[in-house]
Amino acid sequence: MAAGKGTRMKSRLPKVLHRLAGQPLIGRVIDTATRLGAAQVVVVTGHGAEEVEGAVRGLAGPSVALDFARQEPQLGTGHAVQQAAPKLPDAGTVLVLSGDVPLIAEDTLRALVAACGGERLALLTVELDDPTGYGRVIRAPAPRQAEAVPHGEPAGSGAAQRLPRGGSGAQVQAIVEHKDANEAQRAIREIYSGVMAAPAAALKRWLGRLGNDNAQGEYYLTDVARIAVEEGTAVVAEMIGDAMQVAGVNSPSQLAALERTWQRREAERLMDAGVRLADPARFDLRGELACGPDVEIDVGCIFEGRVTLGEGVRIGAHCVIANVRIDDGAVIHPFTHIDGGKEGASVGAGALVGPYARLRPGAQLGAEVHVGNFVEIKNSTLADGAKANHLAYLGDATVGARVNYGAGSITANYDGANKHRTVIGDDVHVGSNCVLVAPITVGAGGTVGGGSTVTKSTEPGALTVARGRQVSFPNWQRPKKAPK
Ligand code: UD1
Ligand code: CA
Repeated sequence: MAAGKGTRMKSRLPKVLHRLAGQPLIGRVIDTATRLGAAQVVVVTGHGAEEVEGAVRGLAGPSVALDFARQEPQLGTGHAVQQAAPKLPDAGTVLVLSGDVPLIAEDTLRALVAACGGERLALLTVELDDPTGYGRVIRAPAPRQAEAVPHGEPAGSGAAQRLPRGGSGAQVQAIVEHKDANEAQRAIREIYSGVMAAPAAALKRWLGRLGNDNAQGEYYLTDVARIAVEEGTAVVAEMIGDAMQVAGVNSPSQLAALERTWQRREAERLMDAGVRLADPARFDLRGELACGPDVEIDVGCIFEGRVTLGEGVRIGAHCVIANVRIDDGAVIHPFTHIDGGKEGASVGAGALVGPYARLRPGAQLGAEVHVGNFVEIKNSTLADGAKANHLAYLGDATVGARVNYGAGSITANYDGANKHRTVIGDDVHVGSNCVLVAPITVGAGGTVGGGSTVTKSTEPGALTVARGRQVSFPNWQRPKKAPK
């Protein structure tokens, strides 16, 4: 379900497209469904339908059989699922999820589908200290244990025993929405999470019987619980302890709370694997981070896309690092920005990068390379031991081993229409403030004098100087102001 408006987000963006850990909320839910092996995903859209559908098409992998059902106007959760019903086959199990409940876990859903077993209505429930606003799980007055076991069945089997930890253990009778509940019902702390699993054919039948005679004049999906009981279908509750898994996003504040919960869990998972985070509360992962042993990450770092850190890698404070492989022992100093983009980037073993360095797509640094402050590297290979320590630009360049690239030097790789390559041979020394106008090759072992603008390729071993010759006039008298 993704048709709701999300008024409290106070945003032009449909609620389900807001991001948690870098991924749209609905993308997470669809990913989780996909990992469960869902044969089909039907997304119910309404508010911002075109935008949501477009985004979802872009998010879902090719393996997902994706379909959409429009719900206009939005007359409640039951009405939402009614719109999807014609798209669902009669065989199989339907899992109802909300696009704005992003932290629901795969194993929880597996357990719920198992509780459904293709024949029961399984409701995911949770106990809250403050259940205000939620649908309450109404159970039959608790029978004594002996009465709950059907005649002829051994104790320990049967529906009553199926009920998990928590709850009263009594048979579920119905879900009553907060606005429709009486005082006694409002005192119940077990709430319906918004997630259910049901046999498809039965669910379709129940949906056909929903009415809207209630406090909100809505078609409540939750009424299927009462209808199933009336039909004699077992309704089971699968209660979980982790309320964050079923927490919805309705406001920026709730979104931020779920983001912090998620980040804290990711941080704990990494620390359990041995990663040393200076402060788990100041760590953000918006993608996948794989770490070797003895990785250290200082405060305020953000990791995006796919990042791999080798053994002993250290990341300084306040780095933004995306789509890169950083090999063993490399050190990224503070305030460095790396984004390898689609192409990726790599940093060799023992390399030193930053502070304040910028690596862009296609930056490939060999072992022991040094890239210092205010150095930008794009689509360039730096072979082992090359150094560009200060204020430099290397774009579309192939830089040989042990090259020393001076402060303030740049490759002029763009002629206004096309990009061209600069090749710098092994052991070249490029002085400060040089412009290497591509396409150009600086021969191995050569030297380029500081301040040169080099437009022609140079021979190996040559010294190249391309600047105005120095002229000095001895005892030069500067002009003086005439006395008044
Ligand atoms: C619903 C449940 C309530 C449960 C709560 C858990 C019903 C009637 N009530 O409450 O028992 O405790 O979830 O959060 O189901 N949506 C649509 N179309 C609609 C209405 C809603 O797509 O016409 C979507 C919303 O975008 C949202 C989800 O359904 O993703 C749940 O809607 P929401 O209004 O948050 O739930 P409630 O009805 O308040
Ligand atoms: Ca509602």
